[in-house]
Order: sequence, then C-alpha cells, then structure tokens
Amino acid sequence: MILVSEHKAAEQRSGADIVRVEKLSKSFGGPNVLNDISFTLERGRVHSIIGPNGAGKTTLLNVLTGLYRPTMGRVLVQGGDIGALAPYQLAALGVSRTFQNLKVCFNMTVEENVLLGRHLQLNSGFWAGILRLPSLQKSEKAARAQARELLEFVGVKVDATTRPDALSYGALKRLEIARALACNPQLILLDEPAAGLNPQETLEIKGLIEQLAEQSITVVLVEHDMKLVMGVSDNIVVINYGQKIAEGSPDAVFRNPEVIAAYLGARGQEETAGVTP
Ligand SMILES: Nc1ncnc2c1ncn2[C@@H]1O[C@H](COP(=O)(O)OP(=O)(O)O)[C@@H](O)[C@H]1O
Ligand SMILES: [Mg+2]
Repeated sequence: MILVSEHKAAEQRSGADIVRVEKLSKSFGGPNVLNDISFTLERGRVHSIIGPNGAGKTTLLNVLTGLYRPTMGRVLVQGGDIGALAPYQLAALGVSRTFQNLKVCFNMTVEENVLLGRHLQLNSGFWAGILRLPSLQKSEKAARAQARELLEFVGVKVDATTRPDALSYGALKRLEIARALACNPQLILLDEPAAGLNPQETLEIKGLIEQLAEQSITVVLVEHDMKLVMGVSDNIVVINYGQKIAEGSPDAVFRNPEVIAAYLGARGQEETAGVTP
C-alpha cells in the first residue's frame, strides 16, 4: 500500500514538472562549461537562471532548446528525453525562446516577424503552398490575425505593416517575445529580455512575464536585472562557473552566502578590470 501511494506521489510530482535536467554537463572540447547540473522546472511557474557573465546561462538555454546536445546527463521535456530532437521538433513539443542578441528581420513588417515564429504550425505542405490550396489560405489568414493579436498582447501597438526600424529598442524586445509566442508554447525561455532597457521598459517586460504565467505558460528567465528577477520569479537557479551553486525562492537565494560571494566576486573583477590601465 505504501509503495502504491509513493508511486502515485511520484507520478504527481513528475506531472507538475515540465522540464527535468539530470546531471547535465556540456563541454566544447575543453573544460566543462556546464558541470553536473540538475533541477526541475515546475509547470506554469516563472523560473530564473542567474549567474555572473560567462557562468553558462546561455549555454544552458541552448541545451534546453535542443541547439546543443548534452555532453553528459539528459534533459527531459514533458517526460521525454530531448537528446535527439532538433529545435523545430522541440517547438512542436511546446518549447520556444528568445535570444540574447536581437534577431529581428528589419526588411520585413512587424507582422511578418511574428509570423516567422508560427510557420511551423501552418498547415502548409509543399503542394498546398504551390497550389495555394484553400486550407492554406485559411490558415494563413488565421495566422495573420493571431500575429496581430500577439503584437497587441506584447504592447507593440503599431500598424501590422510597420517596419521594425520604427520601433524603440524596448518594443523590439517585445516583438521578439511575440514571435516566440506565435508557436503557442507551453514553455518559453527568455535570454536577457531586459538587457539595455530603461526602467519603464523593464516594467513592461515584467508585466508581460506575469501575464504569461497567468496563462500557465512556464517561463525561464535569464536576466541580470536583479529587481526584475526578485519581483517576478517563483524559483531561481544560480550558476557560477558552470556549477549550480544555489536554488530556491528569491529570498532564500539572495541570502545564500555562496550567491553573495559569487556576485561580489564578479563585481570585484569588473571593478578591477575598470581600474586596470
Ligand atoms: N559554442 C561555444 N564554443 C566554445 N565555448 C563556448 C561556446 N558557447 C559558450 N562557450 C563558453 O561557455 C562559457 C559560458 O558562456 P555562456 O553560456 O554564454 O555564459 P553566460 O550566458 O552565463 O554569460 C564561456 O566561457 C563561453 O566562452
Ligand atoms: Mg548569456
């Protein structure tokens, strides 16, 4: 009896987790950039991954989104090992992301930029495209309508035919979130969405993340703005030199002596770098 109930409890636990990272290491031939990292991501929550520059945060996102293969260990998404899946296959599993560097296409309209994120979902086989079958036209119309809804949702309130160069930097970052949402993800990973933004634009990103969580979309946030991280995260994983050094609620993490030391160390290095002739 005890075993059965334990099994059920385990099942319920795995049901709550959308991602399990198990003993993950990644190397590019040299020393490990990620070293024996394990954690789980709970469905519908906001999880932040923080750490000094070069800690391995972007590499971790790249592994979580199938761009890089783990060297050791594995990543389970929705219970399945993503080891052999390409990013587009992960998109079909409900995983989407934005990148640390802006990836906006400036020669397309804002609507077309959002559509780029959706084309996977379009019911557009090769022949349907050539023959312009009604099913394609219908889904294209629906896709354009959804793209405009997403632009509205992220607060890019311009005509759909506007070119991105008319947008502020903050609006470009939100345009990228709209594109990442266009494949209807259950899990979205944001790599430094507030980098380079002013406090007002950062607040807009915060509001957006909160709205995603309200819609039960799991958010993974990599971010240096600690006010944003503290304000929006349910859970934080801290990495330093590729190792997980802490995990927990914002309060617990920012009281952790190892975390404080990692950040003071990083700031000390920056200050030292600043005064070096
Ligand atoms: N494709 C790659 N090839 C070799 N080294 C890499 C590659 N990607 C990242 N690294 C190295 O991994 C380390 C962590 O980088 P990164 O994940 O970008 O850190 P963060 O995002 O935390 O600033 C750095 O030392 C970086 O040079
Ligand atoms: Mg990075």
